[in-house]
Amino acid sequence: MPQVLHKITDCVKNDAPIQAAAACLRRGELVVFPTETVYGLGANALDPSAVEKIFALKGRPACNPLIVHLAEPAQARRWVREWPQSAEALAAAFWPGPLTLVLPKTDDIPPQVTAGGPTVALRVPAHPVALALLRAAQVPVAAPSANRSGEISPTRAEHVLRSLGERIVEVAMILDAGPTQVGLESTVVSLVGEPRLLRPGQLSVQQIEAVLGRPLEPPDDVAESVSLPSPGLLRRHYSPRTRMELVNAADPAELADRAAKGERLGLLTQSDAPVPSAVMVQRMPGSAVAYAARLYDVLHTLDTLGLDRIIVDLPPTGSDWQAIHDRLARAAAQD
Ligand code: TXA
Ligand code: MG
Repeated sequence: MPQVLHKITDCVKNDAPIQAAAACLRRGELVVFPTETVYGLGANALDPSAVEKIFALKGRPACNPLIVHLAEPAQARRWVREWPQSAEALAAAFWPGPLTLVLPKTDDIPPQVTAGGPTVALRVPAHPVALALLRAAQVPVAAPSANRSGEISPTRAEHVLRSLGERIVEVAMILDAGPTQVGLESTVVSLVGEPRLLRPGQLSVQQIEAVLGRPLEPPDDVAESVSLPSPGLLRRHYSPRTRMELVNAADPAELADRAAKGERLGLLTQSDAPVPSAVMVQRMPGSAVAYAARLYDVLHTLDTLGLDRIIVDLPPTGSDWQAIHDRLARAAAQD
């Protein structure tokens, strides 16, 4: 186990764990910390060997770059070669918050952070513990979601423990502030060339376009692409270990039939229609914000039950639901 799993209830009244975690980061150690989206696995972004520990611990492909987290929007300019008006406008509108901006990097950002690429992803998270840690560390913090590569992101410290398993000993500290609020990873926008959506998130395309005053380019179609603009676009990503099946309006009779044949089934549904008692049902909220906040927690829970299948009754479509559909499709992808 890591040396300390700290329950943080009030980081203003008691900042000793924050100071200790900041010291770990400065020494080149790894710290798990909450953000408003998901828990992150942080290292000093300016320390290449600390950053390499993240890749080793997650089993993350070296071609997948990391997001650099900052305490203040004003710090962003220090790490990029260009800070266009679009970056200024988006940062002013949405930072701190669940938005990541990709821009051309300066030489001060080590290539280990950016997978050797010329751009860096930056974000100022909106979580008091994350912000207190970033301020205390006084260094930019590279942090992917704190899960093994390819698995669903953690929205609770317990999910981190489960996903990292025995390798949790490689983490110096975990700051546990309870469940995260947003529940899905940040929206990623590239401002290299035409503004382009790289990963949808709760912050919608419409909200971003309203600030930019122009449409966002859609994600590149990367299915056949060799060099991925953003490996978060890999088709299978964010998956539970249990196989998932996406359906439109699950049929209770068919579920009963399958359960009777011995299939152990989980079901995520927004409907309150009766479900056969053998099926582990999770009733999902009607609003997209509440659905996103619960989704990974529910998938983590169902994933511990040794089910054969997790069936998801697809939620409505529409811009509020884009990121949820994106993550559900990736979680269910077979390759
Ligand atoms: O909400 C979040 O973004 C969370 C919290 C911890 O901040 N972090 C997160 O990190 O989800 P990660 O590593 O799981 O996802 C980062 C995404 C990946 O899809 C990665 O490929 C993309 O951002 N990315 C990072 N740097 C990039 C770059 N320079 N160019 C394009 N995409 C980049
Ligand atoms: Mg991730």
